[in-house]
Amino acid sequence: MAHYTLGIETSCDETSVAVLRDGREILSNIVYSQAHLHEKYGGVVPEVASRNHIKKLPFAVKEALDQAGLDFSDISLVGATYGPGLVGPLLVGLSYAKAVAYALNKPFVGVNHLEGHIFAHYLENPDAPPPFVALIVSGGHTLLVEVRAYGEYEILGETRDDAAGEAFDKVGKLLGLGYPAGAALDKLARQGNPKALALPRPMLDSDSLEFSFAGLKTAVVYYLRDHADANRADVAASFQEAVVDVLVEKTLRAARQRNIKRVIVVGGVAANSRLRERLLSQKNLQVFFPKMELCTDNAAMIAACAYFRHTQLGQSDPFDLAPQPGVNLTP
Ligand code: KG4
Ligand code: ZN
Repeated sequence: MAHYTLGIETSCDETSVAVLRDGREILSNIVYSQAHLHEKYGGVVPEVASRNHIKKLPFAVKEALDQAGLDFSDISLVGATYGPGLVGPLLVGLSYAKAVAYALNKPFVGVNHLEGHIFAHYLENPDAPPPFVALIVSGGHTLLVEVRAYGEYEILGETRDDAAGEAFDKVGKLLGLGYPAGAALDKLARQGNPKALALPRPMLDSDSLEFSFAGLKTAVVYYLRDHADANRADVAASFQEAVVDVLVEKTLRAARQRNIKRVIVVGGVAANSRLRERLLSQKNLQVFFPKMELCTDNAAMIAACAYFRHTQLGQSDPFDLAPQPGVNLTP
């Protein structure tokens, strides 16, 4: 008999519900983005996000089940993100998932959102298993991880301040590109000269695999203050080139240090065309970018992670599992 996993993701501003057959086949992956609600504030407002998850989640669940052609009674396992993320939004999805599992008398697995991102690759590339180096780059996170096996992680480096996507969003805002600004900045950069501005490449010369993007953003702030007539496309292209230089160099350095020839890139910033171009052109390295809808926040990756943890590692979580807004990938 087939195994059906119901996955729920509500850690930030996407309400997402997915159904998987036998852990790898996506039957549905519904994503309701709230970005339009937060745009006028220039960032996610936690309370607004929580309330909208409450409003949308039941409909997203129904739609995911309908699209999969299933009923609640067909579900074998329920998984939901328990952290990291915003506490209110996490609480909504987690409580809903636990209630469904309890009512159906089925097992429940709490999923770490960062591990979930890695499972986008598990879904899409079953023939390229670990070991690999994972670059997780999103609006909330920037980290390099050695994945020895699914479930076995070592964090090699992370950001000391802003996440890469956060830097894209802040600089994009300065350039009047709205929120989130990553995709618009990427597009604008195509018309600009990446060498127009001499911007710093933070922490590039140190041996470490840590990141820092706050200073780069500040350099752009000062440049715009002193150059009222700045060419916006040049600013976008130069900023993007600086971020991509650092991401690429540190990722290659991590692979070299660990003697690993396979790299995966996940999270919203994996959509960046320049990052893709630069990493995919690397010789002697196998690089994977999952398709876009699996890179940005979605419940299919969460369901896949829950399925793996339950079926391969025997994990089931108690119903008193609380949201952990600040949890990292490893303890
Ligand atoms: O993974 P994601 O959907 O949500 C988080 O978990 O944060 O990532 C969203 C982030 C935003 O900061 C957005 O600006 C950025 O990904 N992003 C991009 C691009 N598309 C989305 N950044 C750079 N270039 C892009 N093409
Ligand atoms: Zn994410």
